[in-house]
Amino acid sequence: MKAPQMRVPHPGPKTREQLERLGRYEAKAGLSSGMTPDTVMIERALGAEVEDVDGNVFLDFVSGFGSLNAGHCHPRVVEAVREQAGKLHQAMSLGSKVRLDLEEKVISLVGGAAPKKILFGASGGEAVETAIKLARRATGRQEIVGFTGGFHGRSLGALPFMGRKSQREGLGALVPGAHHVPYPYPYRNPFGRSPNDCVEGTIAYIEEFLKNPASGWGEVAAIMIEPVQGNGGMIPAPLGFLRALRELCDRYGVLFICDEVMSGFARTGRMFAYQHEEGVEPDLVVMGKSLSGGLPLSACVAKSEIADASPPGSETGTYAGNVLSCAAGLASIAVYEDENLADRAERMGGYFLERLGELAERHPVVGEVRGRGLMLAAELVSDRQTREPLPIAKEASEMAVKKGLFLYPGGHYKNVLAFMPPIVTDEAQIEAAVGIVDEILLELSEKG
Ligand SMILES: Cc1ncc(COP(=O)(O)O)c(C=O)c1O
Repeated sequence: MKAPQMRVPHPGPKTREQLERLGRYEAKAGLSSGMTPDTVMIERALGAEVEDVDGNVFLDFVSGFGSLNAGHCHPRVVEAVREQAGKLHQAMSLGSKVRLDLEEKVISLVGGAAPKKILFGASGGEAVETAIKLARRATGRQEIVGFTGGFHGRSLGALPFMGRKSQREGLGALVPGAHHVPYPYPYRNPFGRSPNDCVEGTIAYIEEFLKNPASGWGEVAAIMIEPVQGNGGMIPAPLGFLRALRELCDRYGVLFICDEVMSGFARTGRMFAYQHEEGVEPDLVVMGKSLSGGLPLSACVAKSEIADASPPGSETGTYAGNVLSCAAGLASIAVYEDENLADRAERMGGYFLERLGELAERHPVVGEVRGRGLMLAAELVSDRQTREPLPIAKEASEMAVKKGLFLYPGGHYKNVLAFMPPIVTDEAQIEAAVGIVDEILLELSEKG
């Protein structure tokens, strides 16, 4: 494979035929891109390259929404799954050596002074729900604070913390006790434009709600944050924010939940994104996606005293900690460590960001480029002065697919081109992706 390589215009004839059948059988709510032209029928994939049923080869800069940090079908992960499948592939939630080894490894990666315990799930949303339940039981309090633009999963228990209104509409009442405060988003920060204003203003704002008995909030169990907001537009919280938030939580006896589902496992240049700040130890860390290199597995790692406040068997399920996924997890983590993927994410991220910066010089619609490691974004605006959002990310991503590139349309205002390539991506692949984005921005500006 050598991407991008479009043998036929996308969607090709086999893709069209399969999409027609897909439309008949699968509800569009089940497909993340809906039944739009950017739906690709994938045949095989390797590293950062994906081949469809028509032989078109795409560059995948979405990485299965961040679940493939070591790339598609990494040989060591494939081998580990094959070997495990021949021995034992389902142990319910009973113990097994492979599960135990993964538990020990993940807890050591989270680190910190306090002893920790792990609870497994099958999806990120499930692990988020586990964290919320643990926090409620351990504190005896009900309310949880999330951030604007947040994304923590689509299950009913995670949905109250979804920033995007359209995802919550039509459902009626959700689990009560959820609050949203502004994400520390320097480019669109209500408290001033410098990162420092953003940190101080956001913390002061949250503190006002916590300390004022007439603020409208009740008893807060936990504050949950993505250290780099992913779906919201690849927004790294300014350095210093997590420490300030940790201290705020300590002052008010509130638990600190870090959602590392997308940012975890070397993606941002550290094993977990909160580790960019010295001495920040979350009470609960939620993870999924690249935990197991793309197989269904998630986890919530909690301080032991918090984990042990929940009764036996209350946070498990048939597939929680599935042994195939655990084997994939151990192999994936070995790849992240042996191939120094955290360092690589930092290096390649720096290179990619520089190239995006050059695009910003040529295209006035690019208001800001930003990111941490290989969670990167170009935010589009109709006016650089007013920063008026230009909500054309979906259109741009559909144009990108036709040219052989997957990118993620995100952002609070659907105006962000987000990039999350597998960390094994090389400079030539980044060049190719940047070239395609350059063409798209040119075509969009010609269209007006
Ligand atoms: C930060 C974050 N948390 C939670 C989730 C939910 O994970 P899942 O789709 O596995 O339920 C996602 C998914 O994109 C995510 O980005």
